[in-house]
Amino acid sequence: MSFELPGPGVVLGIASLVLKENATIDHALDVVHAAVDAGVLAIDTARAYATVDDDAAGERIAQAAREQSPGIPIITKAGHFRLGRKAWDSDASAERVRADALRSREVLGAPPSLLLLHRADRVDDLDAPVRELAALRDEGVVEAIGLSNATIEQLDQARAINELDAVENRFALGIDRATEYRYCVDAGIPFLAYAPFGGPKADPLATHVPRVAALARARGVSVHRAALAAMLDAMPGAWPVIGSTRVESVLDSIAAADLEVDDDLRRAFADDLRSRGVGL
Ligand SMILES: NC(=O)c1ccc[n+]([C@@H]2O[C@H](COP(=O)([O-])OP(=O)(O)OC[C@H]3O[C@@H](n4cnc5c(N)ncnc54)[C@H](OP(=O)(O)O)[C@@H]3O)[C@@H](O)[C@H]2O)c1
Repeated sequence: MSFELPGPGVVLGIASLVLKENATIDHALDVVHAAVDAGVLAIDTARAYATVDDDAAGERIAQAAREQSPGIPIITKAGHFRLGRKAWDSDASAERVRADALRSREVLGAPPSLLLLHRADRVDDLDAPVRELAALRDEGVVEAIGLSNATIEQLDQARAINELDAVENRFALGIDRATEYRYCVDAGIPFLAYAPFGGPKADPLATHVPRVAALARARGVSVHRAALAAMLDAMPGAWPVIGSTRVESVLDSIAAADLEVDDDLRRAFADDLRSRGVGL
């Protein structure tokens, strides 16, 4: 089974909803339920989005979205895990990938829609984990497989071993080049573009896309919504994975899918990325 999302739109990532200081499950559920009501396309979680007490906190929250909207795709990730209050580690061995996949399926009560190897950037040889991911897909433990944080060379290596259904890499607007996105478009692989705003500690988005920000101000919409709308318009085959932790911001970002993109916004977006040396 391959991985497909219905049309352009936004994926909600729940890392900060689980991991941020003072995060509570109740608040995370409020945000996720509001996102699902507003039409978020999928939920992005990971084995690593765990609390100190619960290795599956992130997947339980994703599961609540599935109960609310049966069939909503759940993306999760293997091979990276929480060890303690401030410690995480990675293990891309076949044994670990399989154990993680089985645990994800157990918590979700059904095969994850997509299982990604979380930290391809920490792996020297992808042979064993990619073969194991493919075996898990063949066995129906997971519906689809892919890599996260992979280089072009790693994508080539992995695809020579087996077919990938999706790739999830960072694509921060005005910061990251679209190299892996381009690769995925050419290969016909959905590209999940995480942290489009640069993450919770980034400089204000307006500093990365100032022309889009000026236009958004003049039109009375947020720069986040305008930038996401322009991104969806300019990057078919890419799905932004956003990390909003407030109901207000999650609804604002999801509404990007319905914002009309005209030539002025298109130009502002293209000029912003080009002037920062990361043009599409
Ligand atoms: N595969 C990987 O290795 C990997 C790594 C990192 C992240 N991810 C995934 O990507 C998701 C997003 O990552 P991220 O949270 O670092 O990046 P992000 O979405 O680029 O940044 C989140 C920040 O943007 C703000 N924001 C979002 N929408 C907004 C809006 N409409 N108006 C104003 N502010 C807005 C959030 O504010 P509020 O919190 O106030 O809403 C938060 O401070 C994660 O949850 C995770 O699922 C994957």
